[in-house]
Amino acid sequence: MAKLSPSILSADFSNLGADVIKASEAGADYMHIDVMDGHFVPNISFGASVMKSLDKYDTAGYDVHLMIEDPDKYIPDFVTEKTEFITVHQEACPHLHRTIQHIKSYGVGAGVSINPATPLSSLGEVLADVDLVLIMSVNPGFGGQSFISSALKKIVKLAEIRESMGYDFQIEIDGGVKMENVREIVEAGVDIVVAGSAVFGNGDIDNAVKDFLSAIR
Ligand code: DX5
Ligand code: ZN
Repeated sequence: MAKLSPSILSADFSNLGADVIKASEAGADYMHIDVMDGHFVPNISFGASVMKSLDKYDTAGYDVHLMIEDPDKYIPDFVTEKTEFITVHQEACPHLHRTIQHIKSYGVGAGVSINPATPLSSLGEVLADVDLVLIMSVNPGFGGQSFISSALKKIVKLAEIRESMGYDFQIEIDGGVKMENVREIVEAGVDIVVAGSAVFGNGDIDNAVKDFLSAIR
């Protein structure tokens, strides 16, 4: 049984509260918060103030994905009572171990993500410390891209490593997840599925969430 984390990147920003409430009421487990700085990725999305504007609503907890350079500077801004995970990119963190400890010091789950071209071996020294590993199945920066299938091999391998080493992080996938491929993705060993355009881009958020939940639970 996997969980669903709809990415608000594909929500209607002029109606963000309403969209997020709809997805939460339909049963989404988390809200995926895609933060882009125009440096680490070639796009700018939004910052912590937009996320915090949702604090006043009864929504699923935040699953924050920082696609930014120098994330340590901004981690405290994303800590709220509703923050479940803060995930940084291995490629953006020269002192990844320190950054992971920094996230944990606020009592929220620490996640680390790798781009499609980054090997799993780059995470070997931190897998014992993290609460979540986010495998990117698109090159980060935009919603609505196609799933890169080599991510499935990474998922299978990561699940094997977790099993053999007795680690307990969650495995999350992000990018190009649709109703057509979500079962195969979950069967490969994913615990948390991110879906942006497939949830917020199809005009019926309630049914999109429910369809995903029935496919992954
Ligand atoms: C990509 C983001 C993803 C993206 C997913 O840079 O990290 O979370 O919004 O969007 P879809 O599901 O449309 O590929
Ligand atoms: Zn994301």
